[in-house]
Amino acid sequence: MIRSNDHPTSSEVAFEADLTLKRLKPRLDSLWDSALAANEIDSLGRIEFEERLNEYWRPLFALLKELYSGRYDFFYHLEQILFTIALAWIGRPEELRCLDRQRINHPDWFQSQRIVGGALYVDLFSENLGQLRKCIPYLQELGITYLHLMPLFAVRPGDSDGGYAISNYRSVDPRLGTIEDLKELASDLRAAGICLVLDFVFNHTSDDHEWARAAQSGDRELQSYYYIFPDRKTPDEYERTLREIFPTVRRGNFTWHDGMGQWVWTTFNSFQWDLNYSNPAVFRAMLDEMLFIANTGVDVLRLDAIAFIWKQMGTTCENLPLAHTLVQAYNLCARVATPGLLFKSEAIVHPDEVVRYIDPHECQISYNPTLMALLWESLATRKTDLLVQSLKHRHKLPAHTAWVNYLRCHDDIGWTFDDRDAAAIGINGYEHRQFLNAFYTGQFPGSFAHGVPFQHNVHTGDMRISGTLASLAGLEQAIERDDETLKELAVRRMLLLQGLTLSIGGIPLLYMGEEWAVLNDYDFVKDPAKAGDTRWVHRAKMDWEFLQELKDRLEVGGSIRGRVFRALQKLIALRKSLPALAEQDMELIGARNSHVLAFVRQYMGHRLIVVANFSEVPQSMSGNILRTSGFGRFFKDEIAGETLGTSESLTLEPYQLMWLSRA
Ligand code: GLC
Ligand code: GLC
Repeated sequence: MIRSNDHPTSSEVAFEADLTLKRLKPRLDSLWDSALAANEIDSLGRIEFEERLNEYWRPLFALLKELYSGRYDFFYHLEQILFTIALAWIGRPEELRCLDRQRINHPDWFQSQRIVGGALYVDLFSENLGQLRKCIPYLQELGITYLHLMPLFAVRPGDSDGGYAISNYRSVDPRLGTIEDLKELASDLRAAGICLVLDFVFNHTSDDHEWARAAQSGDRELQSYYYIFPDRKTPDEYERTLREIFPTVRRGNFTWHDGMGQWVWTTFNSFQWDLNYSNPAVFRAMLDEMLFIANTGVDVLRLDAIAFIWKQMGTTCENLPLAHTLVQAYNLCARVATPGLLFKSEAIVHPDEVVRYIDPHECQISYNPTLMALLWESLATRKTDLLVQSLKHRHKLPAHTAWVNYLRCHDDIGWTFDDRDAAAIGINGYEHRQFLNAFYTGQFPGSFAHGVPFQHNVHTGDMRISGTLASLAGLEQAIERDDETLKELAVRRMLLLQGLTLSIGGIPLLYMGEEWAVLNDYDFVKDPAKAGDTRWVHRAKMDWEFLQELKDRLEVGGSIRGRVFRALQKLIALRKSLPALAEQDMELIGARNSHVLAFVRQYMGHRLIVVANFSEVPQSMSGNILRTSGFGRFFKDEIAGETLGTSESLTLEPYQLMWLSRA
């Protein structure tokens, strides 16, 4: 069990916390009395809650005090926060409370090698939630045990940034179903051994959320939920130190609202209004939404755009210390109200900043954007030096936390590696990013990739890349050229990268469609609500006809899709059977060949060596290296099923990946 005393609280604050709780206790007791009388919970439930509250109250109080003690209405909101937490536990379905109990005793459940993730849009995959329940056997067949559904709550009409402009966190987009459907799906998934991941889109609401509408009609209380300014003075002061996230949508970070005749802070699209967390009422209101979502049966919340939630004049308003304080406070609320719940950080920022969100007391898991970007970098350069340089000091995480390793997601690829890591091996970061952008948009001579620019900033030259795994790995070009050799290489590139995210340590996450080598879909430009956002090129609709291709023979010339599906399915099953792939422990091995990446994975005495060739020509690695890494005379490649000897050097075919164990 992970204990709260990892949060140091000074004795002065501890005293204040205890006194505050003592003062609030009578009101909390009457809440319990009525819940018990109404049979909403039993006395065991009350005892469990009180134990957790006693354990976590002091650190929670300390964090909230740090955030809000300067506010005239701090104690009012503190009381509201406490009641919100208690009511969420009282309203938590018994099935989820049972799971909470198990997870309190097994806090590392998500570190198992049996966890394999998939992410999908409900509408594009199965039309709606009801249909998705019928697709569970398909997910099981592939081996998925962690399912991230892209935002499915009610959204504004027209462009909703793929669901990230939420107008009501308590109702499902009617095109997808209802809250009841969501609960039923969650429960079916649980029965099938699949955990459910949903977004907590807490940096902003849609401009048609009821709070934003009240603000628009002049309600001052609700205006204080957002950042709203009468003129350009303050926005201009902020702008001096801000980045532009969507420069092709609008210059700057503020949007003029005609109705109010005021400026609104909008980091992303102009219809996504940033919430003002310096107001404790916002903390409390979003806590309520968060716990509501958790109680529908969600196992993991993806904390969307986490880097942006705290703002302070004169800073970049990204990754600020109080952003961490805020998330830690939410984490403690969850420990008391919904203890089985995990947080996943979505911080697509500099690697030094990404890790700061990862902590058992903050976000237990996090996207690994640096690994993602550097796997693509190695594929373009055929060299693993930068990847190795970065992995050397960036893979290790605190105990009870894990990376989420992915290749593509619904968003673009940004080249978020560290310039110092690049400089250490003689690479100029700025120029290298220009190269990678040229490579992945197919501009660089000899490139195999068909990517599309995203948010090209003409002022800074900055650009990100859209495109599916298959199109970026060369399959689209190979098909266009009708070239069997190129097709073969593209398939190998895809499987190489997948095999690495499945084995490097952490939770692998597929972006559904990858299992069918889905290509870019350029038709998005026909839809005016999508045309301006190239990320739609890699958000394709699932084609269930593909399943037919599994029946095809797998000989050369057979279906590429069928082959990729089977190969991925096999890799997933293999991962699950290899205990060495649990948790995070990963040690690099010097392969003495810069085209090769090699590392050891171990867990509880199990050992596996992973070796990968990033080039399209065969490479070798000395057998000696394997001997010194603990192999005797023979070892087995779990992927090819072959036994090999350490007396000779190891030969890797183009883009070959090996998972080696002692024979
Ligand atoms: C996150 C999402 C992205 C969205 C943005 C604004 O980064 O992944 O798709 O555009 O937040 O919500
Ligand atoms: C930026 C943001 C990230 C967001 C993405 C959307 O990279 O940091 O949060 O998902 O833009 O493109």
